[in-house]
Amino acid sequence: MRVLVVPEEQAAHLAADAVTAALQRAVAERGRAVLGIATGGSPLRLYRALGERVRAGEVDASLLQGFLLDEYVGLPAGHAESYREVVRRDLQVHVPLADHAVLGPDPHTGDHAAAALAYEEAIAAAGGVDVQVLGIGGNGHLAFNEPGSPFDSRTRLVELAPRTREDNARYFGGDVSAVPVAALTQGLATIAAARELVLVASGAAKAQALAAALEGPVDVACPASLLQLHPRATVVLDPAAASLLA
Ligand code: F6R
Repeated sequence: MRVLVVPEEQAAHLAADAVTAALQRAVAERGRAVLGIATGGSPLRLYRALGERVRAGEVDASLLQGFLLDEYVGLPAGHAESYREVVRRDLQVHVPLADHAVLGPDPHTGDHAAAALAYEEAIAAAGGVDVQVLGIGGNGHLAFNEPGSPFDSRTRLVELAPRTREDNARYFGGDVSAVPVAALTQGLATIAAARELVLVASGAAKAQALAAALEGPVDVACPASLLQLHPRATVVLDPAAASLLA
């Protein structure tokens, strides 16, 4: 695992370097590339930096397909905080992926188990994820795999931890009761199958989770400790997020 600690302004550019290189490698090998998309605050600067790479011609967005990590269950289709809409605002305005080239788990089918399976099949049909962008939850979650999630988990319906709902209330006008209680999420095994992982985090609120993830035991108590097992993982942190690392 490569851990880079740099000021936040630089972090996005280093993370964009890693993502761009992985996408370029995939395009060179297979003529196209699959980007794994995280939502939330952590990757915002990275997505802007990736947009600069696209505009500079380093990555051809028309050769990219994107898969979301997760999606809330219980929001109406088109809700501004549904992750499909967040990705339009936070990623697609910078990296112009066509709408049909971006998929997330579908929370509106009425059959979450079938939707989860269909999502796994769609990722497999695309040839798997070349590079997965990740954030980390304050409780060490990866996607919506909360502490205790098995390392062999695949896409499934999950309940959100109270801490996650509190953390995400800021996206729902500060109202925890407006945050959905459930989500469809890629499992830890789904995430681990990506050929490369790039995790970005900043701020002291993530320091404890990062110390557990990067230097603690590999254990389901900290789902992000999965990164220690991955052959190609890059972690880009600002000094505050890295402050509890040995
Ligand atoms: C989002 C996701 C989550 C976030 C994590 C950190 O798709 O899967 O695991 O990466 O909750 O969120 P932020 O970046 O908002 O602190």
